[in-house]
Amino acid sequence: MEQIQALAAKHQLRIIEDAAHALPSSYRGTPIGALSDITAFSFYATKTLTTGEGGMITTENGQLADRIRIMRLHGIERDAWKRYSNEGSWFYQVLEAGFKYNMTDIAAAIGLVQLGKCDELCAARQAIVERYNAAFKAVSCLEAPHDYADRKSAWHLYILRLRLEQLSINRDQFISELKKRGIGTSVHFIPLHLHPFYQNKFGHKPGDFPNAESEYRRVLSLPLFPTMSDAEINAVIAAVAEVASAFGRK
Ligand SMILES: Cc1ncc(COP(=O)(O)O)c(C=O)c1O
Repeated sequence: MEQIQALAAKHQLRIIEDAAHALPSSYRGTPIGALSDITAFSFYATKTLTTGEGGMITTENGQLADRIRIMRLHGIERDAWKRYSNEGSWFYQVLEAGFKYNMTDIAAAIGLVQLGKCDELCAARQAIVERYNAAFKAVSCLEAPHDYADRKSAWHLYILRLRLEQLSINRDQFISELKKRGIGTSVHFIPLHLHPFYQNKFGHKPGDFPNAESEYRRVLSLPLFPTMSDAEINAVIAAVAEVASAFGRK
């Protein structure tokens, strides 16, 4: 963020942050959501705080906030009636060609309850991450996620990196071996330039972004959710350790 901020300041750019995974997290003591001109959070079903679907934008810029409020619901100025009529009037004005991006009241009600639990749920994730890190740090073919002293992660995902040169199997086979042992995992994410749309539209091809590809080939995401039981955490640790031991190069 420091480098991005310096670049933005140099060229007078605004920063729009994709913080889909980042509630609650912080960077050098500042909560994510208070760092940039606009920050967008996702409340999709898999996220750390969910309303089923939906999300949140934070900004300290009043003008942007007003425009976002207008554009999220048909370009209607919500307060227009206050200016022209008695409170409660039917009057409204469409000021712009807006969108239908409003959050439903039901989703918002769920979100407010979730918000109250946000720190508690994050602490539960953090405790599981610490268990995983402690178990995996001694295994040389595994690279646990890095923890930085000046930032706090929301731990939306636990991404384990494999040191492929120390294994006789690849990441896909590692995932299959875990599946055989009853552990479901996933991969976050497939680099955009490997998807047909981006290849067809922009002419991207494999090899265009070698760092993204080499990381992609060695990552997998382990189960991580606040209500994981001790037995579930232990089962994940045992299965990963077993696969690492069975296929690690001696
Ligand atoms: C990094 C990132 N940005 C944006 C999104 C999109 O969020 P939403 O599904 O709320 O539109 C996601 C969703 O998975 C994401 O992972």
